[in-house]
Amino acid sequence: MANSLRAAIAGLGSFVPEKVLSNAYFEKILDTSDEWITQRTGIKERRVVSEGQSTVTLAVGAAREALAQAGMSADELDMIICATITPEMPLPTTACVIQAELGVKDIPAFDVVAACSGYVYALSIGDQFIRSGAYKNILVIAADVLSSITDYEDRGTCVLFGDAAGASVLVPSDDEKGVMYTVLHAEGSGWDYLYVPAGGTRMRGTAETIANHDHFIKMRGRDIYKFAVEKMQWLLGDCLEKCNLKPEDVDMVIPHQVNIRIIASAAKKFNFPMDKVFVNIDKYGNTSAASVPLAMAEAWRQGRIGPGSTVILAAFGAGLTWAGAVIKF
Ligand code: UT7
Repeated sequence: MANSLRAAIAGLGSFVPEKVLSNAYFEKILDTSDEWITQRTGIKERRVVSEGQSTVTLAVGAAREALAQAGMSADELDMIICATITPEMPLPTTACVIQAELGVKDIPAFDVVAACSGYVYALSIGDQFIRSGAYKNILVIAADVLSSITDYEDRGTCVLFGDAAGASVLVPSDDEKGVMYTVLHAEGSGWDYLYVPAGGTRMRGTAETIANHDHFIKMRGRDIYKFAVEKMQWLLGDCLEKCNLKPEDVDMVIPHQVNIRIIASAAKKFNFPMDKVFVNIDKYGNTSAASVPLAMAEAWRQGRIGPGSTVILAAFGAGLTWAGAVIKF
């Protein structure tokens, strides 16, 4: 019995803050243009938190929607996993604060840190717990407030990022519905492609590190771009091969939303028409771990995926990490 179990997604949710930063806003504060940002990335606007909003605000908003869609109350959950690189605070985990906000008691709650691949990592972990038979109803959330670690004086990075959360409720399935396959990778030698230097133990936070902008993201954009193009293509190929699927068997590809050029090159390689590739980067930019579940929740809401759909998730990010999944809804 246990061997035939897998995780199915019973509910999806997402939450974005109301405040919009358009490309026109960046034209006013930096030497950039709507044309440059649109052509190089596909981004037109992104959302950022307002005073009083934090990672947990977004996470709980997405979680409540996912629970409602699953027809489940929070006290039926057996585990909470939160993927984030911008935790509510350094200690305790964001998942524990989410648990308290949801009013749930005495279930395991922990964070997963895998940058933009975080949701797919967390989904895979949740799926393993369900496959083992040890846990039943698992809330997998990805929430990031990248605006808290973005240097708004660095035009090479600040135009890219936004804040958001996405969530899913996993339940056991013993039929073909559910997570068919997950694949996780990391290559730590590329840690300095994308990182925040200060605030950890290597460079503790001081007045000087703050003045030097060392608490903000540093990115080797070109290098990440090359890595991303290669890994996005690899992930699609691997998911198709391992699940014995042809591109025409797939209803939707949901890639990490970071740059329309990266997405389009992967789609082209496998002849996926762009209407089978979900893109919402124009509205939200790169929202890190939240990107994939935010896109998946929107695809569901818009009726572009539904019961019976076969969906590939493909994500990559700092670490370097990359991760993919195939889900049958
Ligand atoms: O979640 C995963 C993490 N991040 C990524 O996956 C990012 C992947 N990388 C990318 O998407 C692209 O590399 C970027 C969009 C970040 C940059 O595009 P690019 O075509 O690789 O540009 P570039 O970095 O090679 O820069 C080209 C020029 C430079 O000027 P010079 O040196 O040629 O005079 C930059 O200074 O564009 C300049 N530039 C800008 N110009 C206007 C960089 N940012 C901007 C900007 N507005 N915002």
